[in-house]
Amino acid sequence: MHFDLTDEQKALRDMVRDFAEKELKPIAAELDEHHRYPADVVAKMGELGLMGVAFPPEYNGAGMDYVSYAIVVEELSYACAGTGVICSAHSSLACDPINKFGNEDQKKKYLSRMTTAEWLGCFCLSEPQAGSDASQQHTTAVKKGDKWILNGTKNFITNGREAKVAVVFAQTDKEKRHKGITAYILTPDMPGYSVGQVEDKMGIRASSTVQIVLEDCEVPEANQLGDVGQGFTIAMTTLDGGRIGIASQALGIARRALEESVAYSKERHAFGAPISRLQAIQWKIADMATEIDAARLLTHRAAWMKDNGMRFSQQAAMAKLFASETAMRATKEGIQVFGGYGYVREYPMERLFRDAKITEIYEGTSEIQRLVIAAAALKD
Ligand code: CAA
Repeated sequence: MHFDLTDEQKALRDMVRDFAEKELKPIAAELDEHHRYPADVVAKMGELGLMGVAFPPEYNGAGMDYVSYAIVVEELSYACAGTGVICSAHSSLACDPINKFGNEDQKKKYLSRMTTAEWLGCFCLSEPQAGSDASQQHTTAVKKGDKWILNGTKNFITNGREAKVAVVFAQTDKEKRHKGITAYILTPDMPGYSVGQVEDKMGIRASSTVQIVLEDCEVPEANQLGDVGQGFTIAMTTLDGGRIGIASQALGIARRALEESVAYSKERHAFGAPISRLQAIQWKIADMATEIDAARLLTHRAAWMKDNGMRFSQQAAMAKLFASETAMRATKEGIQVFGGYGYVREYPMERLFRDAKITEIYEGTSEIQRLVIAAAALKD
């Protein structure tokens, strides 16, 4: 057993760290303030292979593993958590199901253009009345000739405003509950597809979150993803991988909070010495460092299990649960280290705190992660 990254993974980490430091960190506050999607940076990420890290080279992916992908999301999120989730939702939630469940034509047509960031992807499962209870899909798909006709509204769709490819779930047989859901690959040029409400969010403001509205949306038969009735399995399998991405995003936020807190505590003087000499501050730093290390071990273990073809649902849920709660604690304590300066926009701590919160909510709330973990623990 060894815990070190490979030389290739270390080289990737150093490259992304350098990229994020130069290209993202300086603009993160402005992206947040103006709710601006960083199109130029995402295009550069595509050129560097960061939007298709864990996908095969025959579809223009970088051909690396999921641990490498987790490293990329952590490094991007350290600089800008909104950009981290642009990469994560695109890679884990849109590219991954097409890679895993798509046929050769679908992979050539869609995945090959997504891995280069020419086409951004999104994942449309949640609905106004179906969030945590994902099997209760109200969106319907009805077969008419050689087309599927989709009707419904999808909610809280990360990347939805910019996406050129959407993996969408719809009910094809209501009687069969989760076994009556089917997945599709949609594009915004399909008749009846439109982008609805754009959300004004508390954090991760570099990424868009929108409604996708489907009104008699015409989807060619060739765009059915997987088998009829396989949609819920596709959604759940995809979210297992997605949760590793969000755990990595949370890790990036938490590590930034720790490093900012360490640097500030060495500069700020109180009672005749830097506040880093105060035990009250040292305990906060110690807890942050320990929890971040534990969160990274959980996250990389889940990624390693995915790479090695094991079932990793429980481990991904543990990683997401622990990493997201670590990010919340680290940013909360980080603000405390900064005192009043932690509460103002001149310093990054308040943004990190706002960005951290969503990691406890999307791709399954902390409560849902606990359900998944308990279900595996209680299984006969
Ligand atoms: N992998 C494969 N199959 C799975 C699975 C997994 N991880 N989890 C469940 N299944 C299978 C079960 O084995 C079962 O199959 P059988 O019927 O053949 O036995 C079937 O799915 C149904 O399982 P459950 O009875 O456990 O399903 P449930 O309806 O009780 O739901 C749940 C389980 C874990 C609560 C699930 O609904 C869930 O994960 N909810 C949260 C959804 C979520 O994360 N949404 C976020 C959307 S994405 C987003 O946030 C927006 C964005 O853009 C970032």
